[in-house]
Amino acid sequence: MVYANDNFIQLPETYLFSEIAKRVETFKASHPEANIIRMGIGDVTLPLSKTVIQAMHKAVDEMASGATFKGYGPDKGYSFLVDKIIEHDYKAIGVDLSTEEVFVSDGAKSDSGNIGDILSKDNIIAVTDPVYPVYIDTNVMGGRAGELGKDGKWSNIVYLSSTAENGFIPQLPTEKVSVVYLCFPNNPTGTTLTKVQLKEWVDYAIANKVLLLFDAAYEAFITEKDVPHSIYEIEGAKQVAIEFRSYSKTAGFTGTRCSYTIVPKECTGYLKNGKSVSINALWNRRQATKFNGTPYIIQRGAEATYTEEGKKEVKEMIQYYMENARIIRTSLEKLGYEVYGGVNAPYIWLKVPTGYTSWTFFDKLLTEKHIVTTPGVGFGPSGEGYIRLTAFGSKEQTIEAMIRLTK
Ligand code: MLT
Repeated sequence: MVYANDNFIQLPETYLFSEIAKRVETFKASHPEANIIRMGIGDVTLPLSKTVIQAMHKAVDEMASGATFKGYGPDKGYSFLVDKIIEHDYKAIGVDLSTEEVFVSDGAKSDSGNIGDILSKDNIIAVTDPVYPVYIDTNVMGGRAGELGKDGKWSNIVYLSSTAENGFIPQLPTEKVSVVYLCFPNNPTGTTLTKVQLKEWVDYAIANKVLLLFDAAYEAFITEKDVPHSIYEIEGAKQVAIEFRSYSKTAGFTGTRCSYTIVPKECTGYLKNGKSVSINALWNRRQATKFNGTPYIIQRGAEATYTEEGKKEVKEMIQYYMENARIIRTSLEKLGYEVYGGVNAPYIWLKVPTGYTSWTFFDKLLTEKHIVTTPGVGFGPSGEGYIRLTAFGSKEQTIEAMIRLTK
């Protein structure tokens, strides 16, 4: 008899974005004429840039010749990309990394989900609430979450509320925890921490031997000066933090898949017998066993984002989406809504009008305005009463959505 992983049975039947897609499909089936504007999942709409496409075409041609063909690549990524990451994404902001600390991969979603492989089942996990659902669901799968309560919280997970009431600044845990997921700029609220605020987390992690899993997938959207792009801008962070980065939102790679994770050599974990272990060595071992590397062609595309032309194109893409964010934010404010985010992130977090829940407002916008959003409660109990809108659509559709809301 085959015994399935019981933990999966505990999970809600569908992943948040699959549930939304299902509801939209159902609505479309009965309203085929509806011109639906998608502001739900954070999926980019602009095509890959010219420089990225050229680099990938060239790489495809290399695959066609015996002299330049590539089979298995290094599972941690080709040095042509790793070196660019170190130089452009870190050295440029005063952070020194070695090549062994960079792990090129196929997505921040996969890495932030897979990281649980190297963490004991006994860790107490803390998340900010609302939260990117992958952090919770993968800990449920790994048996670290306990039971789902009626309040929408898992019994063994510590929820750090991050709401308008506390300015979206999660408080340090008062109970003992071992791992904290931090995502800044935040998905879903679009809010950020300043350097001073992030330093509190790093100091806390050092003092309590806590591991910080820092998701910086949206760092390229930061516009304000005192917002850190990397947790390693904070002194001591290398001892306690892993950082996830992605080309998905930055360079339009949601369908192309390329990302990287930084696991510093100094980052330390502990065994039950009290001995310390290198988290870098464990992740290296995990990746070497379970991952055969991001495709060569894709890594050449990612490398192209670091050329002068590539950088310019990426900047333009980000500006395009951030202009959408501005349009959404200002239009909604004019309509009298309470909105957050959209300044350092492509997400706008909107408080639903009195009398609605996240899901009833989601349904209203879908059925009456034909606009897809994401109900805040899907990101955790503190997301109830909010919806999230993304700025990743076209400018025309973004403007059209705002006009529909005005009517
Ligand atoms: C989101 O909409 O939250 C993101 O697109 C999800 C993801 O990056 O996996």
